[in-house]
Order: sequence, then structure tokens, then C-alpha cells
Amino acid sequence: SWTTGNVIDEQVERIRAQVGDGAAICALSGGVDSAVAAALVQRAIGDRLTCVYVNHGLMRQDESAQIEKAFGESTGGAKLVVVDAEEQFLAALAGVTDPEAKRKIIGHEFIRTFEQAQEDILREQGVVEGDGAGTHTATSGAKAFLVQGTLYPDVVESGGGEGAANIKSHHNVGGLPEDLSFELVEPLRTLFKDEVRAVGSELGLPDDIVWRQPFPGPGLGIRIIGEVTRERLDILRAADAIARAELTAAGLDRTIWQCPVVLLADVRSVGVQGDGRTYGHPVVLRPVTSDDAMTADWAKVPYDVLSRISTRITNEVSEINRVTLDITSKPPGTIEWE
Ligand code: XMP
Repeated sequence: SWTTGNVIDEQVERIRAQVGDGAAICALSGGVDSAVAAALVQRAIGDRLTCVYVNHGLMRQDESAQIEKAFGESTGGAKLVVVDAEEQFLAALAGVTDPEAKRKIIGHEFIRTFEQAQEDILREQGVVEGDGAGTHTATSGAKAFLVQGTLYPDVVESGGGEGAANIKSHHNVGGLPEDLSFELVEPLRTLFKDEVRAVGSELGLPDDIVWRQPFPGPGLGIRIIGEVTRERLDILRAADAIARAELTAAGLDRTIWQCPVVLLADVRSVGVQGDGRTYGHPVVLRPVTSDDAMTADWAKVPYDVLSRISTRITNEVSEINRVTLDITSKPPGTIEWE
């Protein structure tokens, strides 16, 4: 019968059989899927798993530190390499305002950064050898594994495919040797989201991770309408932290699917704060309810909660003088603005 205990035992056995004495690498996103996949693999093969967290500088306030701390503690100190790539991402995003261009740049930089980290790790573990001039070859019989948190609905949606497209694009962009056999480990392939959460809890992952609301891979980069700069990110982070804190305090975290806060960075409006005229930016609150993000409705957040969020943001974030509410369902609006 299905119990989380059985799933864990069975997957640990499978992972051991698949990986043998190879080395595995997992990119942590901060979300529940990659965290549970990594925790399962860590339980199976210990420190032959290395997790990589790419900090692209587009995360919310304190989020990177929380991810590092929560993951390290709950997995009994799994090996975690944190790559600080904020400068690189911001440089690549300079001057870019088109949503698809932003997404492509962020995706591309992510793969480049992850592959560099991957190569360093594999070299350190003797899975690849370098000639000191940037060319690497696989040591004989070397096997490397890439852990991915693919869920059952993802498998079904992509026509039961092997996630090949995913790993192909990883392979094509970077410089890993072609003779390196590189296999996917996907311990969540038979599970639905609620089952993944149950397994995560059983493995000791904290509620922060297990119940984390969806957050897009490109992060706040697609929640600043206009160019992404460090200053704008800081403004958005401050506003977003207030909205999240108030929604959490109101006990709405599990009722609301997610609540993007969007900075309209190229829009200004006139306001009055204290006894002075201001000419600041608006933010948009986008609270939604949903079952699967395919469709969504705008969430009827109680007026008193909205009111506290609005008052606090305009009092505490001096660059913002207007807070607006997005009351569009999906369709026609998407959840994110870009
Ligand atoms: P949209 O905006 O398409 O978003 O209604 C649907 C859900 O997907 C999330 N989202 C992403 N998640 N990488 C992700 O991992 C992405 O590039 C991405 N774009 C959107 C979004 O937050 C919502 O939950």
C-alpha cells in the first residue's frame, strides 16, 4: 500500500541501484520539488551528491540565505555549492526590457553558470580530467548523474518523454565532454505534488520548503516591468517582503496560490506623502487562487489585509507612492506580468 515510508525506501533502493558509485549533481531552485528530489538522493548516496544553488540576484528578501540554511539543516549537511552570480546576471540584463528577452537571458546565464559549477565539481571528484587549457575529458567509465525534480504531471504533459529536451539543452550549450555518460535521476516521476510534500515532510524538510508557494525560475526579473537594475530589485524586494509578511500573518498562505508583487518601474504618478509632493512608482498586488496554475482567479483578500499592505508599503518604501490590485482572472491575464 502507498505510504510515504514505502515510497522513500523504494526510491532510495532505486537510486542506489542506478547511481552505483557514480557522482550526482542537483540544481536547487528553492522550491519543493528539487529539494525533495535532492533529499532523497542524499539519503541514498550521501556525499556523492552535490547540490548547486545559483544565486542569480533575482530572489526575494532573505530567500537565498533561507534556502541555504533550511536545506543544510534538514538534510544533515548535504554538500551544497552556492554560486554567487548576481553581477553576471545583472550585467547580462542591463538595458533589456522585453519579457521574452529577459527570460532567455536569465535561462541562458543559468545554464552557463550551472554547467561551470558542474564541471568544477566533476573535476574535483575525478569524473572528468582537464588539460589545463579548458578542454575536459571523461575519465574511463566515469558516470555522472543529474538529479531533477520531475513530477508525474510533468511526465504526462510532455507525452511521457524522458526529459530529454531538458538535458539536451544543458548539453548543447556548455562544454562537457561528449564521452561523459550523463544520466537523469528523477525520483519523483511517479508522484503528484501533494505526495511530494508528504515525502518532503517525512524526510524532515521544514514547512518553509514543503509548503513554499510557486516562484518563477526567472525570479523578480520578470516582476519588474522595465529594465532590471539593482536599485529596482531592492525596491521590489522591500515591497514584496511586506506583502508576504501581511498575507502570512493573516493566515492566507495556503488559501492563496501565490501573490506576485509587480513593480511598474517605468510608470510614475504624483502623490503626497508627509507634506511633500512625490513622484513615485506604483506596485501591483497580484494575489490568485488556483489548483494548477493553468487557470486562476484573483483572490478576494480581505480589505483590512489589503489596507495594511498598502499602508505599510507606502510608509516604508519611499520610492512607492501607489499600491494597486490586479483583479484579472487567468485567462485572460497570466499570473505573472511577463
Ligand atoms: P503564468 O504567468 O504563465 O504562470 O500564468 C503560471 C505559473 O508558473 C510560474 N512561472 C514559472 N515557473 N519558471 C518557473 O519555474 C518560469 O519561467 C515561470 N514563469 C511562470 C508562475 O509563477 C505561476 O505559478
